Amino acid sequence: MIKGDLMDNIFEKLGGKNSVFKSKKYLDHRFLPDNLPHREDQIRSVAKYWIESLIGVTPPDVTIYGKTGTGKTAVAKFARKQLEQISNEKNVNVRVEYIRCTDYTTEYQVIARLCQQMGQDVPYRGWTKAEVIHAFRDMFKKNVFGKNLILIIILDEIDILLKNNGDGLLYTLTRTDNVAIASISNYVDFKQFIKPRVKSSLRDREIVFPPYNAQQLMDILDERAELAFNNEVLNNDVIPLCAAMAAKEEGDARYALDLLRTSGELADENGSDVIYEDYVREAKDYIEHNKVTDIIMTLPSQQQKVLESLLYLTKRKEEITSGRLYEVYKEFSKGDSVSYRRIFDFINELELLGLISTKTVSRGRGKGRTNIIDLQCDIQLLEDAMWNN
Ligand SMILES: Nc1ncnc2c1ncn2[C@@H]1O[C@H](COP(=O)(O)OP(=O)(O)OP(=O)(O)O)[C@@H](O)[C@H]1O
Ligand SMILES: [Mg+2]
Repeated sequence: MIKGDLMDNIFEKLGGKNSVFKSKKYLDHRFLPDNLPHREDQIRSVAKYWIESLIGVTPPDVTIYGKTGTGKTAVAKFARKQLEQISNEKNVNVRVEYIRCTDYTTEYQVIARLCQQMGQDVPYRGWTKAEVIHAFRDMFKKNVFGKNLILIIILDEIDILLKNNGDGLLYTLTRTDNVAIASISNYVDFKQFIKPRVKSSLRDREIVFPPYNAQQLMDILDERAELAFNNEVLNNDVIPLCAAMAAKEEGDARYALDLLRTSGELADENGSDVIYEDYVREAKDYIEHNKVTDIIMTLPSQQQKVLESLLYLTKRKEEITSGRLYEVYKEFSKGDSVSYRRIFDFINELELLGLISTKTVSRGRGKGRTNIIDLQCDIQLLEDAMWNN
């Protein structure tokens, strides 16, 4: 005989379990809130430029800079939603298209994607670049009502595309009438990848997104918590603690939200009706562990060798100069090594990923300067990630 409770639906049973969450989706990265506290100035700056499109004038290009999790994508999408609303009401021919350049990594792909988003049937491969550009520009010919289309293109995470694919995309877009670009970047110096011929036609305005401080992060979390959690499940210090931890991580709102969501998940897992501060600390370890593991597992093998060498030197408590690192790396990679020059690129990339830090020290008069490298993540964590995958 099968017992009655085994025959109950497993999904129903799991779903009916008590949870601190009312609706978890409000803590998801993809959720775009109706209100973005402490970004009013940035939203207004974008709007101030884009508003020209409503009177049929192509707006200036804008560049949005700021560290990770400072609300760049959220603000751009928010401004887009509002502009689309009003342009529909006013019946003007303005479109805002969003492209994440980590998904479309070449000039061809971005332009093909734009054509597709606007209803043109352009394949992702097979045509020449000139053909794709031609199809794209065709869309700007006056339509039957004689109305010009103004297109604003948000190019999010543009850094890697520029670095790997050059500035051809910007060249093409800045030379297409009625197109305005809004590029979003993490690095203030991303313009080093843009040649003067393009720089001069990029009529751009810069908008800087400063990191959030702890108080600002608290305001952001308060609003989200209201939507996401049931009443009275949050201990008093949970939000301040998440905010303080994220403020230390360069004011990253995404990290703050991750901490809060993971703390809630830990409460659920422990069958607790309340989210305690300890869950936040646990969440921090959990997130950090996953982050490092993810990064390391996706690193190319030569970079893993560099990391291995760094680990070796760190455990021997040696001071790590780039020269010494290269010596050890060459040992480890046994003839399959890359040049000393490439190691510098690797070091830069590992630093951008936050796994290491470097500082330049002077060796005293006449002895020049040296780069000293330091691991920035927990040794145990790194070892686990390197050997267990
Ligand atoms: N002012 C804010 N109010 C509410 N939520 C915010 C605010 N700023 C950021 N967020 C939220 O924090 C998360 C990260 O923001 P966003 O993705 O816009 O950061 P970003 O600057 O684009 O980061 P990255 O450089 O890593 O792409 C998102 O879930 C976003 O909704
Ligand atoms: Mg973003």
